[in-house]
Amino acid sequence: MGIIDSTNTEAKRRVQAGFQNQWLVASQQTAGRGRQDRQWLSPQGNIYTTALFREPAGLAVALRLPFACALAVSDVVREHAPAAEVRLKWPNDVRIDRKKVSGILLETGGTGSEFWIAAGIGVNVLAVPENVSQPATSLVELGMPPSMGLEAVFGSLRRAFSVRLQQAREGFAEIRETWLARAEGLGETYHIRAGDVAFDAVFEDLGADGAMVVRLPDGSRRSISAGEVEIRRS
Ligand code: BTN
Repeated sequence: MGIIDSTNTEAKRRVQAGFQNQWLVASQQTAGRGRQDRQWLSPQGNIYTTALFREPAGLAVALRLPFACALAVSDVVREHAPAAEVRLKWPNDVRIDRKKVSGILLETGGTGSEFWIAAGIGVNVLAVPENVSQPATSLVELGMPPSMGLEAVFGSLRRAFSVRLQQAREGFAEIRETWLARAEGLGETYHIRAGDVAFDAVFEDLGADGAMVVRLPDGSRRSISAGEVEIRRS
């Protein structure tokens, strides 16, 4: 596809035009988008892709996808940089040594059999853009030989995504269990900000609905849903 504004934006245009399930791939993006309206810097050397597909099971599967996508990317890191200790930060950051190697942006729309999902995935392969409020790394920095090439990594990503999507369609149990085994910061204290309220709490579990389950200092448990909060380690 070459250079494009954003594979997710292109996916939405294709939804408007009528579409077949497909992978959109770009070598660079001029207006890459991140979560919370952030920019995703997209120089040459990395993977920028969006899996666009209809999902008749709808929201139930879409809600599992942040975890499924993060697992797929972590599968790719394990394959191509086996020495790296990959960890998943709730809800869907893939990190090594607290450095982010990937960004995932899920967008959905439509209803019933026309419900669609655009799963946008960026993987730092060669370049390490100063992208977000977190430090970053790349597969090559983590030990992958540069000669491996983007095509091989993209092939691994497609295969891993297809396995994890299938798991997400079957339920949340397997995804949840594997995600927890790779989770970053389980048992550690986080600072959580939800609107005007801020508090410290220990990250204890991943709920059956994908919420971050935390224990407050008074011993009570609380479920934090994606999108409503800012979290960082205390
Ligand atoms: C984030 O961590 O904030 C999410 C970043 C998502 C980036 C990917 S790159 C491919 C796809 N196209 C976009 O414009 N964004 C996603």
